[in-house]
Amino acid sequence: MANVFETERCRARRWRPDDPADVEAAFRMYSDWEVVRWLGASPVVMASLEEQRERLTARTEADEARGDGTGLFALERVADAVVVGSVLFKELPDGYGIGTGDFEVGWHLAREFWGHGYATEAGRGALQHGFGLMPDLDAIVAIAFPENARSLAVMERLGMERVGLTRKYYGVEAMLYEARRSSWPSHAG
Ligand SMILES: CC(C)(COP(=O)(O)OP(=O)(O)OC[C@H]1O[C@@H](n2cnc3c(N)ncnc32)[C@H](O)[C@@H]1OP(=O)(O)O)[C@@H](O)C(=O)NCCC(=O)NCCS
Repeated sequence: MANVFETERCRARRWRPDDPADVEAAFRMYSDWEVVRWLGASPVVMASLEEQRERLTARTEADEARGDGTGLFALERVADAVVVGSVLFKELPDGYGIGTGDFEVGWHLAREFWGHGYATEAGRGALQHGFGLMPDLDAIVAIAFPENARSLAVMERLGMERVGLTRKYYGVEAMLYEARRSSWPSHAG
């Protein structure tokens, strides 16, 4: 599956670890502490293009092996094919890396692309993709560190419902938001 979903200005597609332009786009984003600091229990800043390429290869291979349409995808601007970030739809692990049966949407943008609404647009597309892909899923969640105001603002703009703090995922305390199928996409704004 090359293209995963498309929104008004962007498309989500598989990362291409063999394409130097993709590796450079990922590296611009994941070598930046202002982006990486918000990602997971032990954020790792990429130190070289080679490390980035290996990381992208591992993630893409794991996504392809699952073959269920979930994963971390490159977010490409349709107008000029520039990769602005990542968007994800995938199962949430607990603190031991074991799948919880809950699925999340998420977004990472290179800093130069903040402030254009790309994350909100991609998040809406990812929710649509997720509900379409998994007809039995009643809800899709999003989580962020409670002090990650920009990510929480994306969840608010998407019309997701704030549930509260949780320690259920990744072994960290995070703010949990939820989009329920029954009220999606009526309040997607
Ligand atoms: C979280 C993150 C993706 C949010 O990025 P963002 O640019 O703030 O969010 P959006 O792309 O939805 O853009 C919204 C902003 O664009 C503005 N905007 C401009 N044009 C817009 C348009 N056409 N549509 C919607 N919003 C638009 C909005 O007014 C808003 O501005 P504000 O920040 O001044 O309120 C980004 O901060 C990031 O990558 N952080 C690091 C990684 C991270 O934390 N990921 C989440 C982990 S839980």
